[in-house]
Amino acid sequence: MTILRDGDDMNDLLGRDVLTLGEFTPELLQFFLQRVSVQKRMASTAASASKPLAGRSIAIIMLKPSLRTRVSFEIAVTRLGGTPVLLIGEGSAFSRGESVKDTVKVLERYVDAIVLRTYEQSHIEEVAEHASVPVINALTDDYHPCQVLADLVTISEHKGRTAGLRAAYFGDGNNMANTLMIGAALSGMDLTVSCPTGFDPLPSALARAEEIAQSTGSRLTIERDPRIAAAGADVIITDTWASMGQEGEHDERARQFAPYQVNADLMAQAAPGALFLHCLPAHRGEEVTDEVIDSAASVVYDEAENRLHAQKALLTMVMG
Ligand code: CP
Repeated sequence: MTILRDGDDMNDLLGRDVLTLGEFTPELLQFFLQRVSVQKRMASTAASASKPLAGRSIAIIMLKPSLRTRVSFEIAVTRLGGTPVLLIGEGSAFSRGESVKDTVKVLERYVDAIVLRTYEQSHIEEVAEHASVPVINALTDDYHPCQVLADLVTISEHKGRTAGLRAAYFGDGNNMANTLMIGAALSGMDLTVSCPTGFDPLPSALARAEEIAQSTGSRLTIERDPRIAAAGADVIITDTWASMGQEGEHDERARQFAPYQVNADLMAQAAPGALFLHCLPAHRGEEVTDEVIDSAASVVYDEAENRLHAQKALLTMVMG
């Protein structure tokens, strides 16, 4: 791994939006991973008293439910010395018929960055188009960059590297699958997405991942057979079968995704010492069994904790 200085001369993300993770380069991802590592090491020292966001406010707008993202962003901003301004629920912002432009133009008079969880990717893109302050995607229907950054931190910590590893994702080709493809490409990891026909990740996400992979050598594959996808994998990942807003499709989805459940049999196909990741919340007995999520292979709570560390690093990279 190239050792990068922990200085802003390597940071191309300053003042920019993070809407998909495709804004990163492989070099920037290494810079990010190094910054997380340094911040975690220094957390218990006097250096943690540094407050780079002192005097600045960050709007955290959650138009969908959240536990991890909301709490970890609020604490990250607070620990960095900033003031989090929480706007939770449908009635908090972008409602009452007020246009996106008016909402954003007012918000940016108060805050120095906007963290937004919303539905359509086009909504956060419209927010970013009008905003003069950085906009960070806290999950949309299409992408979840903050989660995948935390996943890459977790894999790197447990495996000592990301480049050259083989990961396999099982289930819905959703926002996690889309973003994981980009994250895998950035980190030099191979990724196989194993999903039923009709549930593939977005072609545009695959295209961005393949573009990045030209320089890192990552291989990105779609594989219908879950046992083939799991064979020899170093990292096994899954996510809910019915994302927020798809609850009405739960039974039909459960039927189609059943062969993609991560259980002991599937984990047995993976490489010795393989990790299990899930962004949570998990639906135990559906996409993952208790015996897997509670096993020694599972790093889901480290993954959840790393949301905080990853977002602290991301905020300092975007906001300086
Ligand atoms: N993984 C994740 O984004 O969790 P929340 O929906 O609880 O924020």
